Amino acid sequence: MRRITQDTAGGPEVLHVTDAPVPEPIPTEIRVRVTAAGVNPVDTKVRAGGAGLGDDMTAPPFTVGWDVAGVVDAVGMGVTRFAVGDRVFGMPWFPREAGGYGEYVTAPSRQFAHIPDGVDDVTAAATPLAALTAWQIVVDTADVQCDQRVLVHAAGGGVGHLAVQIAKTRGAYVVGTASASKHAELAALGLDEAIDHHTQDVARATRDIDVAVDLTEVNGPSSLAVTRPGGLLVCVPSGVPEGLTEQAHAEGKRVTDFLVEPDGIALTGIARLLAEGALSVRVAGTFPLEEAASAHRELEKGSTFGKLVLTL
Ligand SMILES: NC(=O)c1ccc[n+]([C@@H]2O[C@H](COP(=O)([O-])OP(=O)(O)OC[C@H]3O[C@@H](n4cnc5c(N)ncnc54)[C@H](OP(=O)(O)O)[C@@H]3O)[C@@H](O)[C@H]2O)c1
Repeated sequence: MRRITQDTAGGPEVLHVTDAPVPEPIPTEIRVRVTAAGVNPVDTKVRAGGAGLGDDMTAPPFTVGWDVAGVVDAVGMGVTRFAVGDRVFGMPWFPREAGGYGEYVTAPSRQFAHIPDGVDDVTAAATPLAALTAWQIVVDTADVQCDQRVLVHAAGGGVGHLAVQIAKTRGAYVVGTASASKHAELAALGLDEAIDHHTQDVARATRDIDVAVDLTEVNGPSSLAVTRPGGLLVCVPSGVPEGLTEQAHAEGKRVTDFLVEPDGIALTGIARLLAEGALSVRVAGTFPLEEAASAHRELEKGSTFGKLVLTL
């Protein structure tokens, strides 16, 4: 099978196509023939050697990629929920190597869900990592309630535009930061109030936030400033910045880091939202697998609206 490999950490140019044996599923695993693979910032961070997720994530040779959609091609002993030919999507193995940028992936069946009818493979591949992140923050971590005020800081990104929608399904009032060009489309996805972080000071542009979801690399302090006493700040990209926990406690606020986990049950819930049209995943662009480096260059510009996907 073909897959994208890197023999050293570095820029997008280290990604290249290689041949590898097709993996065999062991008991409880399925093998998926991948038709599309989502691209996420963690892929670019691991490629560059700086994800901060442990040595397993950076020891080359390595195949990045955790978002896959495709067709079940073989099932191991004990698998009852999937059969050969089923269309599935998932975020297998994270944060261990999954080999998502490759033609075949094997993983425990419960790390996958069925792709709903009417959802194409590219959209399905764009969904798992970003949607599980949004779900596990909004639902599992923050347990957002009806009428709570939620801030999604970086609402126009892959995770952000889904966090907005999932918070809306919980009945929240959602404030989001994004470039002005994204505001109208985010409003159509349910965003109640948009802040242009290029022209407005986020720390002063809103207040009384119950749950702040900070998806930016730098702005934990701004999000904390607008969080009400008793409220919760989730620092998503690289944990809680130094000193912020102490400041939060002094102000009577809560702050936590977060790392997404494979979760077939949550993914089944996400699939239901997709099927009902309650969740819309924006695909900003597609690239053939061989052009993974171009996809990384595009994502690293830092202004993608939605998701990038590799097609196989
Ligand atoms: N801990 C975890 O489990 C986990 C899971 C998923 C993602 N993440 C991390 O979360 C971050 C976001 O992921 P993603 O997939 O959504 O990334 P993405 O799709 O690349 O989105 C980045 C978005 O951030 C916006 N942005 C950049 N700087 C901003 C700022 N200062 N204020 C407001 N918006 C800003 C940009 O929109 P504009 O054009 O509007 O500026 C861009 O659309 C990444 O660092 C990723 O690694 C962590």
